[in-house]
Amino acid sequence: MKETKLLTEGIHEPGLHTLEVYEGRGGYRSARKALFDMTQEEVLEQLEASGLRGRGGAGFAMGKKASFMPEGSMEKYLCCNADESEPGTFKDRLLMQKNPHLLIEGIIIGAIAADAQRAFIFIRGEYELQAKILDAAVTEAYDKGYVGQGIFGSDRMLELVVHRGQGAYICGEETGLLDGLEGNRGNPRLKPPFPANQGLYQGPTLINNVETLCNTPMIIEKGGEWFASMGIDESTGTKMVSVSGNVQRPGNYEIELGTPAREIVYGLAGGPLEGRTVKCWFPGGSSAPILLDEHLDLPYTFEAMAEAGSMLGSGAIIVVDDTQPIVPLALRLAEFYRHESCGKCVPCREGTNWTVKMLERLDEGEGTPMDLSILSDVQENIMGNCLCVLGDSMAMPIGAMIKHFREEFVQHMEEARHRRNLTEVAYGAGELAGSAEAGAA
Ligand SMILES: Cc1cc2nc3c(=O)[nH]c(=O)nc-3n(C[C@H](O)[C@H](O)[C@H](O)COP(=O)(O)O)c2cc1C
Repeated sequence: MKETKLLTEGIHEPGLHTLEVYEGRGGYRSARKALFDMTQEEVLEQLEASGLRGRGGAGFAMGKKASFMPEGSMEKYLCCNADESEPGTFKDRLLMQKNPHLLIEGIIIGAIAADAQRAFIFIRGEYELQAKILDAAVTEAYDKGYVGQGIFGSDRMLELVVHRGQGAYICGEETGLLDGLEGNRGNPRLKPPFPANQGLYQGPTLINNVETLCNTPMIIEKGGEWFASMGIDESTGTKMVSVSGNVQRPGNYEIELGTPAREIVYGLAGGPLEGRTVKCWFPGGSSAPILLDEHLDLPYTFEAMAEAGSMLGSGAIIVVDDTQPIVPLALRLAEFYRHESCGKCVPCREGTNWTVKMLERLDEGEGTPMDLSILSDVQENIMGNCLCVLGDSMAMPIGAMIKHFREEFVQHMEEARHRRNLTEVAYGAGELAGSAEAGAA
């Protein structure tokens, strides 16, 4: 099977990261068109007609979100979410490294749609190389007058700053990102108010993912209808998919939305190694509930993934083959979310911690089948009860793992118990002993 390359067409062309080569390929034509030949309403209309949905995780319609920005002369902001911290996701890295001016042009168009005068690219701290490339590209754009005061010779201002994150997953959550950008500890904020009303420095703020913004120049160039003609239902256009895990050819692939997932996993990424099968897969990063082999026949769309009980998320497919045990996978996942929980709200702080503790017990053969039920309950109690969806991002996949592989969890416990020669497991004995010791001390 072949990719449908729109964003990634010619992406490896030498020098594409320079303004000269990018412009030589027709770059910045769409920004000029949006600025001089279209009104803000017309830009918004095209974005809405395209049906472009956010590529960062939540899949909210970009044009609609931009249209929520209030009118008025107050300072408005655009923040590009380049934190790319969802495990398994590495598509924005490619876009920024190879084609930074596409992102800058997308930001200019996004800023026109949102009537923003200041824009920020919040890039994850580990992306040192990509940040340097972006810095150089932004400097070139300033030198040419494409950003700054009076962009392209107009009377519109657009200041653009590249801001490096400090390595926290939570700063990818849009309000955590805003706190981080303001110089505070990156904690999520209570919503509402949503950033479009009250975001950066309390001003209206449009927040979009790198890939989302990179789609806007072609929408302005060829029209929203053209974009909407690709894909299925409300999943329009193409999607960059980062495929990783137990596949023969991991990497970034650009596909038309609606392509069967099996074609992506087997056709493009080569499927698992010879003799192995797909045990389960994460369709949209580690936060997406796992699906099974049979779900690979579904079209890869926001709708189909949601109907199957998961989500398309950031478009990161992580494949797990039949040689991988499920309990250590669940434990590794839970450890990540415990480490990354900001601790601001109780269900997430305590829930991720207890999930790790219980999974450790199961892994060491000290759990009981009852623990498995409690573990499921803990996940249920996290979901929908946190300040942001970081807690859900652990609870959903862990819950799905228990649902699909309950027998393997029980078997894993039994085997670990026999291995360690634990004939009897006294439920709670460990904690009781621990608290007695603590009391004695
Ligand atoms: C814990 C957490 C981490 C997130 N990390 C990212 C991220 O790294 N990049 C991203 O674009 N969106 C991330 N998101 C989603 C953002 O909150 C937000 O939905 C997105 O930036 C909006 O842009 P979009 O509409 O273009 O997708 C994360 C959400 C959560 C809850």
